[in-house]
Amino acid sequence: MPETTIMDKLISLCKRRGFIFPSGEMYGGLQGFWDFGPLGVELKNNIKRSWWKRFVQERGDIVGQDAAIITNPKVWEKSGHVAGFHDALVECKKCHKRFRKEDFDSISQFDHYKNDIKSRKSFLSQMKCPYCLAEVQIGKIFTEPKSFNLMFKTFVGPTEDTASETYLRPETAQNIFVNFDTVRQSMRLKVPFGIGQIGKAFRNEITPGNFIFRSREFEQMEIEYFVNPKDDEKWFKTWVDASYQWFTDLGLKKENLRFFEQPKKELAHYSKATTDIEYKFPFDKGWAELMGIANRTDYDLKAHGLTYRDEVSKDEFVPYVIEPSAGVDRAALAFLLDAYHEVEGGRSTTTESNKEQETVLRLHKDLSPVKVAVLPLSKKQQLSSVAQGLAEQLRKKFTTAYDEVSSIGRRYRRQDEIGTPYCVTVDFDSLEDKKVTVRDRDTMKQDRVATGELVEYLSEKLNI
Ligand code: GAP
Repeated sequence: MPETTIMDKLISLCKRRGFIFPSGEMYGGLQGFWDFGPLGVELKNNIKRSWWKRFVQERGDIVGQDAAIITNPKVWEKSGHVAGFHDALVECKKCHKRFRKEDFDSISQFDHYKNDIKSRKSFLSQMKCPYCLAEVQIGKIFTEPKSFNLMFKTFVGPTEDTASETYLRPETAQNIFVNFDTVRQSMRLKVPFGIGQIGKAFRNEITPGNFIFRSREFEQMEIEYFVNPKDDEKWFKTWVDASYQWFTDLGLKKENLRFFEQPKKELAHYSKATTDIEYKFPFDKGWAELMGIANRTDYDLKAHGLTYRDEVSKDEFVPYVIEPSAGVDRAALAFLLDAYHEVEGGRSTTTESNKEQETVLRLHKDLSPVKVAVLPLSKKQQLSSVAQGLAEQLRKKFTTAYDEVSSIGRRYRRQDEIGTPYCVTVDFDSLEDKKVTVRDRDTMKQDRVATGELVEYLSEKLNI
């Protein structure tokens, strides 16, 4: 399947089945803003729950917090975001489309050509504006790069004057740094320790796009892990490995993941070293950042004037910070792409027969938005009353769907398409033997299970 069509098909599935769709779509939407529907919110919650369990709940050295999205603007001055959170923007003078300078490999090389007019001219003559195909000539067709601050401004209180001006946070990290002392003291924490947070971040991206890959409103899952400066490299490696492990444990294929060490000249203003975990997205020449792990050194704590005193050794120092930072939306996109499968000619069992092409979302069970679907073989009242009672019972423990509309084969396919790992079928024999058929999404294996043992059977399979 050509890679571009995978994105198109996934976007269509996401809208049709209530995962993700443009925000405010009935009024034309708003570029870079997306709504997560009934299945999308379950998927996102499952991603966040898994991350929180692994990196906060199960660790004795990490605590959580949930800070305000809007905070004192001094936070953003001191952090360097007011002065330095910029993208370079270029505009095609012909069609007036704007681009991030970074988006073009070739454009990012403009600097190399600065003092070499001849080679710069021949290089630029091969480039075209990707929208109107005008030939690129710097200063003629494309404007010179202009710096553009990505933070959304807003006003607190009734007057729109500068005294009340502040920003929507562009990362969750700063709220952690400014709470360093308060959280550390309240929980009596000693270095090394971390503070984790999941929450919304906002960036006025010049070119949002590739579905939810680059949005203007998105969610981050971040840990700021505070270490003794002499141990920074050891912890950096530990966090690169732990982050990779989380993605592969949740089923991302290793061949679709790789590490990318950011070149020194491209590092963010706070970073000494950053390793990105890249996913083989079907755009941007195949690989793009899924998450980043940065060694932020003592940049942030120093910027906010914070320090640390070891109670035992009495040493005073400014801890270094290792920061694994992942986007929930970008992770959701990678999980969906990785799980998306088409089966030519369909799949069939004793109760299903299908010759059509079938879509199966092979999501990890922890991530599936619906865990169990209850499907009575027919709409007949004797079956549907038993099946509805069963669904009612299962709902107390698992996210459960109930479907009695159309043929059983079609209903199985509807569940496969959204990644439901188990379908429970109630048939006429069930009325006699008090057993139901449980069908596994991936193996297609069918087990006959006593209704009294169904919750236990599914709990074991789903590890819930
Ligand atoms: N605190 C560090 C930080 O924010 P970042 O590399 O700018 O670092 C971290 O962002 C992660 O947040 C990215 O790896 C990506 O997963 C996600 N992210 C960043 N910008 C995004 C955007 N515009 N849309 C969706 N996700 C984004």
